[in-house]
Amino acid sequence: MTRPRKTPEQLRSHRWYGVKDLRSFGHRSRTAQMGYHRSDYAGKPVIAIINTWSDINSCHSHFKQRVEEVKRGVWQAGGFPVEMPAISLAEPFQKPTTMLYRNLLAMECEELLRSYPADGCVLMGGCDKTTPALVMGAISMDLPAIFMPAGPMLRGDYNGKFLGSGSDTWKYWAELRAGNITEDDWQEVEDGIARSAGHCMTMGTASTMTSAAEVLGLTLPGASSIPAPDSRHAQMATLTGKRIVDMVWEDLKPSDILTAASFDNAVTAVLALGGSTNAIVHLIAMARRAGIDLDLARFDALARETPVIANLRPSGKYLMEDFFYAGGLRGLLVRLADLLDPGQQTVNGRSLGENIEGARVFNDDVILPREQPLLASGGLAVLTGNLAPAGAVIKPAAMEPQLRRHTGPAVVFKDYNDMSARIDSPDLVVTRDSVIVLQSAGPQGAPGMPEWGQLPIPQKLLKEGVRDMVRISDARMSGTSYGACVLHVTPESHVGGPLALVRDGDLIALDVEARRIDMLVDQEELARRQAAWKAPAPKFTRGYGVLYLKHIQQADTGCDFDFLGPEPAVAGGEPEIH
Ligand code: FES
Repeated sequence: MTRPRKTPEQLRSHRWYGVKDLRSFGHRSRTAQMGYHRSDYAGKPVIAIINTWSDINSCHSHFKQRVEEVKRGVWQAGGFPVEMPAISLAEPFQKPTTMLYRNLLAMECEELLRSYPADGCVLMGGCDKTTPALVMGAISMDLPAIFMPAGPMLRGDYNGKFLGSGSDTWKYWAELRAGNITEDDWQEVEDGIARSAGHCMTMGTASTMTSAAEVLGLTLPGASSIPAPDSRHAQMATLTGKRIVDMVWEDLKPSDILTAASFDNAVTAVLALGGSTNAIVHLIAMARRAGIDLDLARFDALARETPVIANLRPSGKYLMEDFFYAGGLRGLLVRLADLLDPGQQTVNGRSLGENIEGARVFNDDVILPREQPLLASGGLAVLTGNLAPAGAVIKPAAMEPQLRRHTGPAVVFKDYNDMSARIDSPDLVVTRDSVIVLQSAGPQGAPGMPEWGQLPIPQKLLKEGVRDMVRISDARMSGTSYGACVLHVTPESHVGGPLALVRDGDLIALDVEARRIDMLVDQEELARRQAAWKAPAPKFTRGYGVLYLKHIQQADTGCDFDFLGPEPAVAGGEPEIH
């Protein structure tokens, strides 16, 4: 579809650079101070490159180089690139969790774009929360925006075996605690599991969310599957820089691209990928920013008709590097074509259907044929019941099948410290049939809803060979994790949700097929416990934490702040800038 092109006078940056007044003199003279001649920028789209590089974000360590490649593309296409660093959200390092800061990055992205002379933006992210955060901010600002995914790192390597980020950490940690490997083995795993730039290379949250961004139409076709160190990743960065300049002239904005159908496409792809449960929270939050209704029930409905066909860890066998060589996301989407709406617009001006035309699968064991899926349906399942009236989620693809219907007595930990102190105690009363419950791990309780949801299996059971148990919390779980973990229990225990009322020995019933999670405790007893429940004191007393606690919403609505809805930031739309 051909779109009318803007004139230079219609550019947003014209108000900073193009007018004849005292303020614009300041903007031009200070741009000259940086060594640019007016011919470098006059009448050209200013492209903000929001870069989440930092010295502590190992997943984005190539962004210093990639940003130069993005700039090269912007210059070549006749734009003026301006790099703007933003909070990095380095998943392995930031405590208690990057999720505490996802909305802060979203706000930073939106406000950078609003307050500076940006006509369009390139969003450079990939490590878990950076993708949803940047996209949320860009949706709210609604300038032409294109996402440049960091790309997965190369496969890990240990003694001739491939290692997957996260998944193999949990696996070998369990083996170390069970006494099956030595400290020296463990150190070799440490040395080989992350051996290049790029985000986690399992189908964790990073790969899930960058793939979702591509299916939503926010990246160039094929961009999300390219491994970070591959030269084609650098080429993609340059092409991304070139494309955003035309997007500005065409005024192609997120609001022109995102629809209920494009979100359905993204959810379907996430399900077929065996993607992270975190995608539920993030996609709901992103859709809300765009004014699109997406709820837990929609995930469950789509999960019932979508097969898991990516044979990727943690649900399957392979890693993102294998996925790329097998045809990548475009190959997978071709196999899902009948479940997608192909007419949805994307950043390159073409539809999703046009972008996957001609894509092929080169390895049927990595991207499985539809008739031989990893799981025929139900990559994710949404549960409700008296333990989670507003919903909870589980990933059936990544749990031992016999636990999908299970009733057992609760072993309750009141918070993370309590769990750390007692989980490996020889005195803990627990069997393989027990249901481990963690309270106070939700958006308010932890706070920040950390990825604690793959609760550890007690050491004495590990030594008996137990590798999976039913575990329940109001936390999230890393997308690289696995197990029969009921997550995102809503409302969370910290605000008085039923999870707060569970006591040791209460029978808990999980039935994934029936989509139920219940505690088998009579109503009178529950009412008595509810009456005796007291709200805990807030965990923060100053700073951003106070803002967070005051405005954070529950997991079923995406954990966004209550003041960041789809309405314009300023009544009547964008203000006149002086
Ligand atoms: Fe950055 Fe996993 S640690 S994506």
